Amino acid sequence: MHFSEHIAAFGAFLSFAAAQTAITIDAGTVLQDIAGFGFSQAFGRATEFKNAAAGIQKQALDYLFSTSTGAGFSIIRNRIGSGGSGDSIEPNSPGSPSSAPSYVWDNNDSGQVWFSQQARSYGVNTIYADAWSAPGFMKTSGSDATPGYLCGTTGHTCSTGDWRQAYANFLVKYVQFYDAAGIPITHLGFLNEPDFSPGYSQMQISSNAQEAISFIPILSAAVKAAGLSNVTLTCCDAVGWGTTATYIPNLVNAGSTSYLGVITSHSYSADATTNLAGTSLPKWNTEGGPSSAFTTTWYASGADNEGFTWANKLAVAMVNARLGAYLFWEGFELRQTQSGSHLVDTTDGVNATPSGIFWAFAMWSRYIRPGAKAIAATGSPSGVLTGAARNADGSTVVVLTNSGTASQSVKLGFEGFTPKTSSAWVTNQGSTFKTTTAALSGGAVTVSVPSKGVVTVRLT
Ligand SMILES: *[C@@H]1O[C@H](CO)[C@@H](O)[C@H](O)[C@H]1NC(C)=O
Ligand SMILES: *[C@@H]1O[C@H](CO)[C@@H](O)[C@H](O)[C@H]1NC(C)=O
Repeated sequence: MHFSEHIAAFGAFLSFAAAQTAITIDAGTVLQDIAGFGFSQAFGRATEFKNAAAGIQKQALDYLFSTSTGAGFSIIRNRIGSGGSGDSIEPNSPGSPSSAPSYVWDNNDSGQVWFSQQARSYGVNTIYADAWSAPGFMKTSGSDATPGYLCGTTGHTCSTGDWRQAYANFLVKYVQFYDAAGIPITHLGFLNEPDFSPGYSQMQISSNAQEAISFIPILSAAVKAAGLSNVTLTCCDAVGWGTTATYIPNLVNAGSTSYLGVITSHSYSADATTNLAGTSLPKWNTEGGPSSAFTTTWYASGADNEGFTWANKLAVAMVNARLGAYLFWEGFELRQTQSGSHLVDTTDGVNATPSGIFWAFAMWSRYIRPGAKAIAATGSPSGVLTGAARNADGSTVVVLTNSGTASQSVKLGFEGFTPKTSSAWVTNQGSTFKTTTAALSGGAVTVSVPSKGVVTVRLT
């Protein structure tokens, strides 16, 4: 027996002794495209970020966007305002749908121009601009903050006329203002939670999506006519994936999906747990968050604001539902007492502090970069979900999430590529993104995944 075979035999013995479970990462079985991970600073939070003390602001930006010390978020979602002056680019009605609109641009957009520039300075180039509503005068209710439909869509006639083309022009104009500011918008949405009636900007569609179906071709034509075919259209940002699953067959049957590039949904009323059938379009979770307070806790009782709760949601979404992106609600806020729906705050008033949930995202988003493709991972250690992705630079990232009550030792084997280096990090209660052992031996990597913990392995 050659010396190296001795080592291999000894390794096999150790494997047996440690009751390892084998997982095979197969670069030959390519699954969904991964665009990245992100968040929003909508509803004044971008201005709050912009106005934060310089020290906290810089720390928070580094946490959110740095790929060496932070989460490396790679997508931002901006709100296209629909209200009055200072919120919308068309605060006043021109009188009729065919009259020339008076657009207003303050080169600020509630701090979102600054926020987008900051994100871009860290290399972010996926910018999703999403409207919560059309301006109120284009809706059946006459207000952007009360329930109503876009005038002219199927089933909704208004005395003022059909505002579909005007709304499409408004959305195109918003993209053009950003282009002029040097910020290319890559994705454009015209709805937010159309299955919900809050007390602020809102616009509904029916469960058969008939209003979206009658607007999407008009928006697509307007975007193309403006020379912006490079902007990807999305639909429909429902409150949860249950509603999204009911929209999809209607959008597909009507041909609407041929104009869209991404199916978007939020995860408030239902998570994405399976790969939705009916369309091959990428599916992105574009908003989600807990209802309880901001906390740095990773795992205590499994509450909705704990880091591990979100680690598990992310694993289910990326592995079982094969999502192409996952966006949380807000990134940075300076309000310790309000809801947990932001990722970075301050606990001492001097330093930026990431939440437990922030670290759940970081385990995926720091090393799985835009343009990555998910690849197959087979093998089932008890309680462990395994996601794997191949980056454009040839590196491979494996994320192991252990929701079980016991630590699991796993042995990763590889097909379709031969890694030369291996590095790994662990996050569990008490450790955040801490280097952990991931020995590469005989072409395989052995790692231990603690209970209620996540291990990210990077192979080059
Ligand atoms: C940008 O907009 C925000 C929110 O409307 C406002 O508070 C801030 O003063 C504006 N900044 C500039 C430079 O206009
Ligand atoms: C799309 O094309 C327009 C027109 O050439 C350009 O101004 C804009 O920056 C492009 N956007 C993206 C996302 O590449």
